[in-house]
Formats: sequence, structure tokens, C-alpha cells
Amino acid sequence: MNQQEMKQAVAQAALKYVVPDAIVGVGTGSTADLFIDALAAMKYDIKGAVASSERSAARLRGHGIEVFDLNQVNDLPVYVDGADEITQHLAMIKGGGGALTREKIVAAVARKFICIADQSKLVPVLGKFPLPVEVIPMARAYVARELVKLGGEPDLRMGCTTDNGNMILDVHGLSILDPVKLESDINQITGVVCNGLFARRGANVLLLGRPDGVETIAL
Ligand code: 5RP
Repeated sequence: MNQQEMKQAVAQAALKYVVPDAIVGVGTGSTADLFIDALAAMKYDIKGAVASSERSAARLRGHGIEVFDLNQVNDLPVYVDGADEITQHLAMIKGGGGALTREKIVAAVARKFICIADQSKLVPVLGKFPLPVEVIPMARAYVARELVKLGGEPDLRMGCTTDNGNMILDVHGLSILDPVKLESDINQITGVVCNGLFARRGANVLLLGRPDGVETIAL
């Protein structure tokens, strides 16, 4: 399988985690898009979805899948989303698509996080992919200076306004040996809305696309 076929295979494999008659949490990105397309085949078996971005909500609605406001949802058995990097311990960097804050909120509500990714996303140490940090616009320069103190090289993502009306700093040059600690440290910086480390709440299951099939890694 090539990379696109691996993405399609993991998107398809995630369907077996979708709980009938329940609401499913849906992530953002090219792999999540393929999951949404696959989910369309079982749209009459689910109650609906909550989406981590306006982009995914539009795609879900395009398939005739009802999109619920998260505040209306008490129980979310499963959240399915991609990742920019993931370790064997199922800690992730996310936010390449700019949707990290809503992704983290939906993931926090979900009982189970199913990560779908092709094998290029599996890394021994997080940080080669620049870590996205969503910031309140007026705090951009201050947060950037604080991120430099943590050893990073922040770059403003040009032309990007998040669904929440904020900006994103992409932090280069980090070798993240303790993702749980760094996630907390960055969250302590005033003006940070959210960062793309998903370590305190990592994935529960990784469906990893390999050339010869889908590997399942579960904690
Ligand atoms: C979006 C994300 C995506 O999950 C991540 O960027 C992976 O995307 P893709 O499936 O296109 O590689 O975190 O904010």
C-alpha cells in the first residue's frame, strides 16, 4: 500500500470502534476526512457526530450526518482523529491543521481516543514536527519569548486564524523527552490557549497504516 492507501485502510479500520446509536467524535485533517467519508456508509447506524473543526463539520453535514454541539452531549464513547507525530506510548503532536484546541476539548470528553495514522507518523521522540501553540493574538510576542526560554524557536503561522479567532505559533527545535511536563509547562504561559501536545490525554488505540496492512497498538 502507498501512503494514501494506508490512510484509507486506517480510516476504514476505525469504523469497528464506532458505537451504534451513539454520537462519535470526529477529528480534523486528511486522514480524518477519509474517516468521515467511510463513516457515511454507516450514517443510519449512528446518532450523529461532534466535530473538532468547522471543516470537519461541513464534511459531515455534506454526507448527511447530523453534527451536534458538544455542550449537548453527555457521553462520547469514541473520538477518531489523526496525528502529526505519535510515539509507541501513544503521546502525540497534533495541530498541523490548526484545530488543536477543539481537538483537545473533544478528546477530553471522549472515553476512548482512536488515532488513525500512516506509519510515517510513528516516531521515537516527539518534536521534529513543529509543535503548534494556539495563542490569544495580543499575547503572541510575549508567548513567543517564553517559548524561546523553554528551548524552542517559535514561528508565527502566516495567514492562519483558528476557528476560535486566535493565532498559531509553530515551535521548532524541540526534542520532547518529557511530553507530559512540557504540555503542562506551555499551558502555564499566560496567553496560551492550548498546545498541540496530547500526552496527558494521549490516544488509547493507534491504528497504524503499514504497507502490508493495519497494525493495532493499544495501551
Ligand atoms: C489537525 C491535526 C491532524 O490530526 C494532523 O495534522 C494530521 O493530519 P493528516 O491526517 O492530514 O496528516 O491535528 O489539527
